[in-house]
Amino acid sequence: MAGLAGGLTGLSASSVDTAVRAAHARYLTLNEGANADYIPALAKVPSKFFGVSLVTGDGKIHEAGDTTEVFSIQSISKVFNAAIVMEQSGKDFFLNNVGVDATGRVFNSIEAIEQYKGKEMNPLVNAGAIATVGNIKGKSAEEVWDTIITFYSAMAGRKLEVNQEVYKSEADTNQRNQAIGKLMSAYGLFPMDPGVATDLYTKACSVNVSSHDLGNMAATLAFGGRNPVTGKQVMSRANVPGLLAIMATAGLYDDSGKWLFNTGLPGKSGVGGGLIAVAPGKFGIGTFSTKLDVAGNSIRGQRAITDINNTLGTNPLAQFG
Ligand code: DON
Repeated sequence: MAGLAGGLTGLSASSVDTAVRAAHARYLTLNEGANADYIPALAKVPSKFFGVSLVTGDGKIHEAGDTTEVFSIQSISKVFNAAIVMEQSGKDFFLNNVGVDATGRVFNSIEAIEQYKGKEMNPLVNAGAIATVGNIKGKSAEEVWDTIITFYSAMAGRKLEVNQEVYKSEADTNQRNQAIGKLMSAYGLFPMDPGVATDLYTKACSVNVSSHDLGNMAATLAFGGRNPVTGKQVMSRANVPGLLAIMATAGLYDDSGKWLFNTGLPGKSGVGGGLIAVAPGKFGIGTFSTKLDVAGNSIRGQRAITDINNTLGTNPLAQFG
């Protein structure tokens, strides 16, 4: 395998590099979509930034563009909160509690909660995500926060921090999420105080990452919970397939089906402009570009990952031997 990118049988590291650079160059000047503005601080993030970072099993990073610019992780955090709960409470926790089905409704739907009294959700829509945080074990809010930020940091392979401006901006305007948290609590779906759960959820959404960090986090999932750069086993291998299944069915909001149809890759987007995708055993990829489509997914990120996946022939649903 000398000279080959880890797990990419038949593809050289230089062809991976070329695919990443070509996709970045192809969409650099694409100027469609708009920043999210319902969280005021997100509207101000410069939309010119565009970073693409792909990490292979040998810990090599292939990247192009603004790969060290930091931005708030937003909903991509939901994946890692779900991972923490699986680590603490077992692989089937979500199957038996929050749910693992796409709701067919917008990510912050209250109607979806009412339909099944808080059940039949998944950890990637706000109701399920707040319930997920509310199920993270710890003696105090501080201890739960420490568990969250330590876990994200191990996934990324460096110490991550909260973007205080985004945290304050969202905390000042998240009345709808507070209502969702209270409703989920009223249905008995988590033991934590709902105000604390919603606040920790909001803080987790405000953690700063770069596309480089997201590439590492996605790669940790792609290689069974082992960060290929640091070599650390961050989560147990047995919990990864279930997490990837939830990402595959619900990771890109109402467009999750279209995304899976086009790429076959479990993914997760955030309204801060981040996007991750996981090619199990092959690579993890993270992108950053703030302009979103109507479904709330980064336009340049989706295009770049789709191109790279097509060029490398890594759609997991097209591996026919
Ligand atoms: O709760 C919110 O609205 C944001 N903190 C996160 C939203 C987001 O990224 C889209 N979620 N699926």
